[in-house]
Amino acid sequence: MAGQMMRAVQYSTFGGGAAALQHVEVPVPVPAKDQVLVKVEAASVNPVDWKVIQEGLFKVVLPAKMPHIPGTDIAGEVVALGPGVTSFAIGDKVSSWTDLRNGGSMAEYAVAPIKTTAKRPESVSAIDGASLGVAGTTALQSVRDSAGIKLDGSCKDKNLLITAASGGVGTYAVQLAKLGGAHVTATCGSRNIALIKSLGADEVLDYKTPEGASLQSPSGRKYDAVIHCAKYQPFSYFKPQLAKTAKVIDLTPSGKGLLATGLQLATFSSQKFVPFLMSASGNDLALLTNLINEGKLKTVVDSTFPLSKAEKAWEKQIEGHSTGKILITMVGE
Ligand SMILES: NC(=O)c1ccc[n+]([C@@H]2O[C@H](COP(=O)([O-])OP(=O)(O)OC[C@H]3O[C@@H](n4cnc5c(N)ncnc54)[C@H](OP(=O)(O)O)[C@@H]3O)[C@@H](O)[C@H]2O)c1
Repeated sequence: MAGQMMRAVQYSTFGGGAAALQHVEVPVPVPAKDQVLVKVEAASVNPVDWKVIQEGLFKVVLPAKMPHIPGTDIAGEVVALGPGVTSFAIGDKVSSWTDLRNGGSMAEYAVAPIKTTAKRPESVSAIDGASLGVAGTTALQSVRDSAGIKLDGSCKDKNLLITAASGGVGTYAVQLAKLGGAHVTATCGSRNIALIKSLGADEVLDYKTPEGASLQSPSGRKYDAVIHCAKYQPFSYFKPQLAKTAKVIDLTPSGKGLLATGLQLATFSSQKFVPFLMSASGNDLALLTNLINEGKLKTVVDSTFPLSKAEKAWEKQIEGHSTGKILITMVGE
């Protein structure tokens, strides 16, 4: 496909939000060693794409270069193999996380490292496949690895709180925690209470009410772990509702949060404030894809936009009120 052109969306400077996205024609990228070229069918948008990368929070290292085609989460079909690739074949349907520095998802073709790519059964849609990269992996790793909930139903004695359960991460986290057998209390806005209950949450609090803001479990449970997907709150905010050896898993690590973590370590506290950063993994993507295939996990889709209206998806993600995932589709335009 060398020399072939493709449609893509990119930005050339930091900041500017949705208005800074430009529709361009650029050459189809060439897969390097241990990469595959994917014809993208769908891509999803995540808060990190604009909050960290477009806003230039780590501009010394992210992105690799400007102009930048943003986004990391894709599903599509392998159309070319980089040197040394034997574990994928042309024609494979895949789900992939492309890489934070290089992005590349908001385009007709994207290169993806094989170590963060998984084969996708035909029965798993491109929409599902593209939703899993950041949101699914974060939900899985925070529930399974940080909160210690095994997905085999054996954690019936664990009480979990999941905040912002209506978001991309939260909608998956509730379902994964229930697969583990945990008792789940969730927070979301009133319009999403029925949905979050339908995903399996045992108790749902409206975060805009005083009861919701207190995080108090209606059944009086103290939480063994909190998967905190809503905006940063200090450890003292959670403390009254925590069990003796509880962990608060903070999805938006900040200087203040790290200070709290350090202080607890220094004082040998039995309760922990744990900063969380997801680590992309082809194995975890494969596990999530299989759960979808088996009907044990479902994706909540907020909205889909064609590539020609990608800025609308970006704008909606920045607004912060989506229910589940926001996606961009490349097929059928
Ligand atoms: N550290 C990591 O590796 C990592 C990885 C992935 C995500 N994250 C972070 O995790 C957070 C969640 O990501 P996401 O993709 O799930 O975001 P998202 O999909 O944009 O979340 C939107 C949802 O959050 C709800 N919400 C907002 N504030 C809330 C609050 N105070 N209480 C309860 N619900 C609230 C909104 O409900 P309403 O519309 O009703 O307000 C909306 O449904 C983001 O800050 C993201 O940057 C971190």
